[in-house]
Amino acid sequence: MRTPIPSVYVQGLGSYAPSRILANEELASIVDTSDEWIITRSGIRERHIAAPDETGADMAAKAAQAALADAHISPEDIDLLIVATVSDDTPVPSVACRVHSKIGLKSGVPAFDITAACSGFIYLLQIANHMLRAGDYRRALVIATEKLSRITDWTDRSTCVLFGDAAGAAVLAKCDIPHAGILGNVLGADGTKGDLLAVNPRNAPAPVFPAALPSGTHTIAMNGREVFKNAVRVMSQACRSVLAKCATDPAQLALIIPHQANIRIIEAISDELKIPLSRFKINLDRYGNTSAASIPLALDEAYRAGEIKEGDLVLLVAFGGGFTWGASLIRWQKNPEKTTPAL
Ligand code: COA
Repeated sequence: MRTPIPSVYVQGLGSYAPSRILANEELASIVDTSDEWIITRSGIRERHIAAPDETGADMAAKAAQAALADAHISPEDIDLLIVATVSDDTPVPSVACRVHSKIGLKSGVPAFDITAACSGFIYLLQIANHMLRAGDYRRALVIATEKLSRITDWTDRSTCVLFGDAAGAAVLAKCDIPHAGILGNVLGADGTKGDLLAVNPRNAPAPVFPAALPSGTHTIAMNGREVFKNAVRVMSQACRSVLAKCATDPAQLALIIPHQANIRIIEAISDELKIPLSRFKINLDRYGNTSAASIPLALDEAYRAGEIKEGDLVLLVAFGGGFTWGASLIRWQKNPEKTTPAL
């Protein structure tokens, strides 16, 4: 008899955003902009900003604790930890290792960071999905955390109005029922377009050994128009690819959770795919673009607001610097034993 192929499902979700809110009006006192310009061009009204001493690892730990509570498990039940981030200032120890200690995972549980910019959470899902299904691990904690305020150029009005700080986490668990939970993923990258959205050293002295680059000198630089066009094209294509891979019609989708970068990008994808905007989750008005954290933050908000119910098909899609992109089709199941449809 053949062994059934196991599935991986989302057992718990959590997110965290710092309490300090920076509204468009306040930004207009920092750079030459206006509430009206930012809302019209991006849809963003406000964003959350971490405290000066609050790190990406601190935010990640809070999101992780919420996800563990939602899954009704304790840190001892986790046997793999992966973190996605682009905004931390300490490469070693990794954010994952710092979270490992903060939330008290068992000694020996592997932990590492990945970098895939705004596509980080979809990359996390794909990596953990394969590692769990390969059989060595039973339960993974995946976290996306970004303190983008640390790498924002607060003198550049074309970028500083767009970004915010947040973290989102998911507990992923393996179950022995086929075709439950994560149904399919696509990932991609195009390194030739890396310069269009990058975190570059800015006004920094050349790094001369043994002097280190001063912290805070790497900031986001972006060609907004080019990124916009590529984001619409690539995210639409990623949605089509994962739906085709899973033989799923767009009409079957209960909710689409796109990376929250700009309302006009989401509207253009809705037009492109002919899926009404009402089926897209949108919370960028309150958080701005939180890079890798944006999808788990929006997914957690939709889940806690009852916008997703057991058995629903949910499509996640992201695009980011690199360029990187990815899409995941998930059957939303907290109880796959009870709710996986018979084939
Ligand atoms: N306030 C007021 N004016 C601003 C401004 C601001 N914050 N930022 C730029 N402008 C000005 C520009 O200087 C330009 O002025 P000019 O016509 O006199 O030269 C004008 O507004 C238009 O700028 P442009 O860059 O063409 O605007 P846009 O409609 O493309 O919108 C973005 C800019 C950044 C909002 C948009 O390009 C975008 O969202 N791109 C994608 C960004 C993104 O999603 N990045 C992350 C992907 S993961």
